[in-house]
Amino acid sequence: MPSSRPSNYLLNVEGLTVSFDGFKAVDDLTFYVDEEEIRVIIGPNGAGKTTVLDLICGRTRASAGQVWFKDHELTALKEHQIVHAGVGRKFQNPTIYEDLTVFENLEISYPAGRSVFGALTFRKTKAILERIEEIAETVFLADVLHEPSGLLSHGQKQWLEIGMLLIQDPELLMLDEPVAGMSPSERKKTAALLQTITKGRSVLVIEHDMGFVEDIAHKVTVLHQGRILAEGSMDEIKADPRVVEVYLGH
Ligand SMILES: Nc1ncnc2c1ncn2[C@@H]1O[C@H](COP(=O)(O)OP(=O)(O)OP(=O)(O)O)[C@@H](O)[C@H]1O
Ligand SMILES: [Mg+2]
Repeated sequence: MPSSRPSNYLLNVEGLTVSFDGFKAVDDLTFYVDEEEIRVIIGPNGAGKTTVLDLICGRTRASAGQVWFKDHELTALKEHQIVHAGVGRKFQNPTIYEDLTVFENLEISYPAGRSVFGALTFRKTKAILERIEEIAETVFLADVLHEPSGLLSHGQKQWLEIGMLLIQDPELLMLDEPVAGMSPSERKKTAALLQTITKGRSVLVIEHDMGFVEDIAHKVTVLHQGRILAEGSMDEIKADPRVVEVYLGH
């Protein structure tokens, strides 16, 4: 068992396994994500993709294996410690506060807002205001900054949630089906967004929209029945007959 960071990759997943009542949803998974890489995980429904994110962010406990993120072995940490170590995770459905404005949602996500003064009462320093405005600009919400977020479109809510993660400046950002329910133009903008946020950060994305995957992926990992079926560039994956058979052909 390695006792320290085993390589120069940002994320090292080694032998990761989880069984639910004897069923191995993720089975001896090993993969590595580079610094500033956009990695996409694809695969059929039930392949174990969401479970992989659940394991990395500590929501689900691994049965075996290790996840090294920088100098942290994540399977030994609790969910909030993993967030603190620099891993942000977006779930399949947006989890924003609909009664609060876009600004307030970003404000309560600002790390100091919670740790020092409590959720909504911390002093708004100029630096914090500027950071909120900058993030709102990045996620295309600058012109709706003071709208209640319940009034946003589904796509805008997804962007707000990405903004709420970005404001914590994670070094690894994990997104589960970020463009589900988005219009074609929103998908294009989201692809552009992901390209702009990889400075000093890696992104691990699950997606079914192959056009979107093609736009963003540096490398693709194909999951099937909890195991890696194939891994490589988008072109390599598309040309792999096993991937076509279990996934792309459908
Ligand atoms: N907590 C759990 N308890 C029992 N079984 C689970 C649990 N979480 C996931 N599973 C099972 O593990 C398998 C993988 O599920 P997972 O949600 O990871 O698939 P997925 O690849 O994300 O699929 P989709 O593309 O439909 O989102 C499924 O058979 C699912 O029913
Ligand atoms: Mg899923």
